[in-house]
Amino acid sequence: MPVHLKVTTVLAFLATGSFQSVLASSNGLTQPAISNCLTQFFNAFLTHTRDYISLPTTPQALQDSMRQFYNVAQFLSVIGVVNCTHVALRPPRADEASYRNRKVFHSMNMQVVCNAQGEILDVCARYPGSTHDAYIVQHCGLHRRATQGHFNGAWCLGYRGYPQRVWLMTPIVHPHTAAEEEYNRCHRATRSIIERTFGQLKNCFRCLDHSGGQLLYRPEKVAQIFVACCMLHSLAVRKHQPLPDPPQQQLQQPPDGDDDDFTPQHRAEHSASQEGFNARHRLIQTHFL
Ligand SMILES: *[C@@H]1O[C@H](CO)[C@@H](O)[C@H](O)[C@H]1NC(C)=O
Repeated sequence: MPVHLKVTTVLAFLATGSFQSVLASSNGLTQPAISNCLTQFFNAFLTHTRDYISLPTTPQALQDSMRQFYNVAQFLSVIGVVNCTHVALRPPRADEASYRNRKVFHSMNMQVVCNAQGEILDVCARYPGSTHDAYIVQHCGLHRRATQGHFNGAWCLGYRGYPQRVWLMTPIVHPHTAAEEEYNRCHRATRSIIERTFGQLKNCFRCLDHSGGQLLYRPEKVAQIFVACCMLHSLAVRKHQPLPDPPQQQLQQPPDGDDDDFTPQHRAEHSASQEGFNARHRLIQTHFL
């Protein structure tokens, strides 16, 4: 099979999530042939992940990224926005329960960081759907790099389900002052890009969308599919390709108000770092008064 045919076959699969529709639109490919294409494509493409998905590596790139975020809502020193999204899959039989998420379908919980343009800078695609966002963020490569000082004093923004850290700014759950309100407002406005990115990602790559059914693959394969889609998404953003937003009703509700994200275990993690609270307090005192 020529390479261009393999590539277009894989793209058709990612865009629809179904072998059936790829089969219907191609002539003479068997299911094993398509499956083979996927394997070959991922083996080749995923060796280039770093070329598509990486945090700013030079001081100049970091500056640019922070400036673009600053232009959104005057929030200082933002390197990226972090959030998680669920990708439905048929769970491995031996470990069914850990893949059942709080929305009661089976999934993997994928963590993504994006920049102000919606380019994807970091992905953690390892955890089953029952894993809490707050757990993932404290056990991922991002956390390791941030605490090793790779962020140079910049931070990520995350919703209030995340633990406040020096490198991870979260909203104030009960704002008391005008400055805190203002901080929350800018935080929310800056963060909204991640919601849009997830919407575009799942709209473009229907294989990731729950409405398209579940991916019938092993978790390792689902992780590969997700990372490949993120790489293609980043490529599209860089090349200024139009990325249609999903129809409005499909968007997840972004407001801060949903309390079902607070389990007891989670509250404990949430109250972890005094240093983190101090950093947020300093930021508010110096920039939101
Ligand atoms: C991030 O994800 C959580 C939980 O799924 C959600 O409640 C939150 O609103 C999301 N969006 C943003 C913009 O942080």
